[in-house]
Amino acid sequence: MKSPFRQLIVVIGLVAALFVAVAVVFVRDSLRARVTADLDAELKARAFALSRLVETRSPRLMPYIEQGLGTAPGGVFLQIFDADGNSIAYSSNLDAAIPLSDTVRRLAAERFEAVLEDSRSSSGEATRVATFARAEASPGKREVGFFAQAGIPLASRAQHSERITFALIGGGAALWCILLGIAWLFIRRWRASLRGMTKQIASLELASLHPNSLAFEVHDLDVAELASAIQRLLGRLADTHDAQQQFVAEASHELRTPLAILLGENDVALRRERTAAEYRETLQSNREEIARLSRIVDNLLTLARADAGEPGPLREPLNLHTLCGEVCDQLGPVAEGRRVALALESCPSDPVECVGDRLALHRAVFNIVENAISACPGGESVKVDVSCTGGIARVTVVDTGIGIAPEQMSRIFDRFYRTDAARARGSDGAGLGLAIVKSIVESHRGSVAVQSAPGCGSTFTISLPCMCAAGTVEGGCESAG
Ligand SMILES: Nc1ncnc2c1ncn2[C@@H]1O[C@H](COP(=O)(O)OP(=O)(O)OP(=O)(O)O)[C@@H](O)[C@H]1O
Ligand SMILES: [Mg+2]
Repeated sequence: MKSPFRQLIVVIGLVAALFVAVAVVFVRDSLRARVTADLDAELKARAFALSRLVETRSPRLMPYIEQGLGTAPGGVFLQIFDADGNSIAYSSNLDAAIPLSDTVRRLAAERFEAVLEDSRSSSGEATRVATFARAEASPGKREVGFFAQAGIPLASRAQHSERITFALIGGGAALWCILLGIAWLFIRRWRASLRGMTKQIASLELASLHPNSLAFEVHDLDVAELASAIQRLLGRLADTHDAQQQFVAEASHELRTPLAILLGENDVALRRERTAAEYRETLQSNREEIARLSRIVDNLLTLARADAGEPGPLREPLNLHTLCGEVCDQLGPVAEGRRVALALESCPSDPVECVGDRLALHRAVFNIVENAISACPGGESVKVDVSCTGGIARVTVVDTGIGIAPEQMSRIFDRFYRTDAARARGSDGAGLGLAIVKSIVESHRGSVAVQSAPGCGSTFTISLPCMCAAGTVEGGCESAG
């Protein structure tokens, strides 16, 4: 696979090169314009100075004038023309006079100020000249006395410009290298951080995960944010892994006990010949253990499906009063067997409608009422009430049983958690019932709450979004009128 870093470097290199090229062209053109302007100004000044010097001295003094104005081979040259444009004198660095063009002569004579022109010497060399017309003092008129001209071969300016261009290209290349070097250093550091992180993540063991599993220094802000997001993810993964390990351990433990009992009873029964009644008794006992096993497996499956998030609850309209009535009818014989007074308080004429999965909600209410009956070993009472207030339907199960110790309240909805009292009673529950209740109710966008005090009984309340038209349906037949 191609490394994205290499491509990134290439892209940064190209962008930097483009940037540097544009900067070089811009600076070169600005400098050229500046040099040209300076040169033109200098030529004008020299042409003017020449016109002044010629006024006081004879053109034959040209060598001395040259010394004063400073001419050199290949550099600035000087020329003087008469009013008709004929050459009078020229500096020694010219082989022959460069003729004065008619256009320049006319313009200079009209304006009496320096006129600039690109022309060619007798040898065809390109030159830049400034021509200044010197007026002759005559009363009432302004006539041209002579033309003073200062010029320079453009080759020297081109050389100058070339030097500037080379210097700029060199500087631009150096700048490009520096930019690329800085980008490369940054990317290398960034890449090293990512590589370090990747290496550590690859070597992580699921069993040894914890929120600070990644331990290395990160200098880059983005990579640091990525590292901390991964740390958080690892923390969650570690929690999930621990919970899963615990779940598997507890599930195995819960399944092992009935299996061990089954095996033991079978072994005892097979040790010698038994009567038909003894075999029946063993089979009956085994059946109870198998029923318990099947209930645990069924509960585990329900929770596993809920964890996987599928299937979502059905959305069928249902009457909570009818649903609670069915649960009470179903558990009535159990309550009776334990001498517990089980009653549905709300009135059938006050339907509390909501939308949900009827079977699942039936299971949730069943689990809570079943727990309430189990919590009443001394023949206390269990009351079920259904109401709807402010758009919330409530199923309340109140028992006057053993209650729950405050320190155990927060854990009763955990999977496989059973209270000390339940363990002491030798209850055959697996501690999954309330976890299933919570999962079902939350999948219906509802909640389940508990209030309890040891020895004073408990109140479990399931709250669900309801569809009651009136907005308020109070529980109990008397209050319903
Ligand atoms: N109304 C109640 N009063 C007192 N303790 C309760 C009450 N309801 C639940 N508990 C206790 O809370 C714990 C968790 O209940 P849960 O229904 O999850 O498990 P279980 O009844 O032990 O087993 P399962 O429902 O899986 O057969 C149990 O130990 C149970 O005794
Ligand atoms: Mg239970």
